Amino acid sequence: MKKSSNPYLKHLFVCTKEREQGEAACGKAGEALCEFLKSYVELHGLRGKVRVTRSGCFDLCAQGPNVMVTPRHVWYSKVEKDEAEKILKEILS
Ligand code: FES
Repeated sequence: MKKSSNPYLKHLFVCTKEREQGEAACGKAGEALCEFLKSYVELHGLRGKVRVTRSGCFDLCAQGPNVMVTPRHVWYSKVEKDEAEKILKEILS
């Protein structure tokens, strides 16, 4: 086993889990949110500092799309795409 320090200041996990039609899930909204966050990180020179990763289910399906931020130990639920920038500004302040 090799142990090394995490180079990222913040790591955002975005649930993109799909479920059967009619079942609550982050799904496509989570995917769109994830893509927006990745683009924002790239456009604002945050690559290497902030990492955005697709995730599986957090068991908060009815409250999706959900984003978990480490090391802040915070979850954001029912995130609208236009709130993504607010999350990044908040976690980087
Ligand atoms: S599907 Fe996203 S939290 Fe369960």
